[in-house]
Amino acid sequence: MPKMIFVERDGTRREVDAPLGLSVLEVAHKHGVDIEGACEGSLACSTCHVIVDPSWYARLSKATEDEEDMLDLAFGLQATSRLGCQIVMTPELDGLVVKLPAATRHASK
Ligand code: FES
Repeated sequence: MPKMIFVERDGTRREVDAPLGLSVLEVAHKHGVDIEGACEGSLACSTCHVIVDPSWYARLSKATEDEEDMLDLAFGLQATSRLGCQIVMTPELDGLVVKLPAATRHASK
């Protein structure tokens, strides 16, 4: 099974199983990684914001315009920011590294 690595806010790296076809958000939830994902992947929030390791960023399929629009609302946006619910695990992404942003805009606040 592919793996991916979440880099937590304190710098801890967590390697977890990442089943094919699941989004990074779903993988995070499966393993109790703290990404909110308020809209459950319907591109209506930015709380699933993750920062993709630069060496992986180019290997992801390009963000859609809708994703870009939502990303603009995310706190701490970086050049390799993406929405976790829009990155779907494929065999090529085995070993993917993403970092949790320092803060997210909680939909409930
Ligand atoms: S979970 Fe809301 S945009 Fe990803």
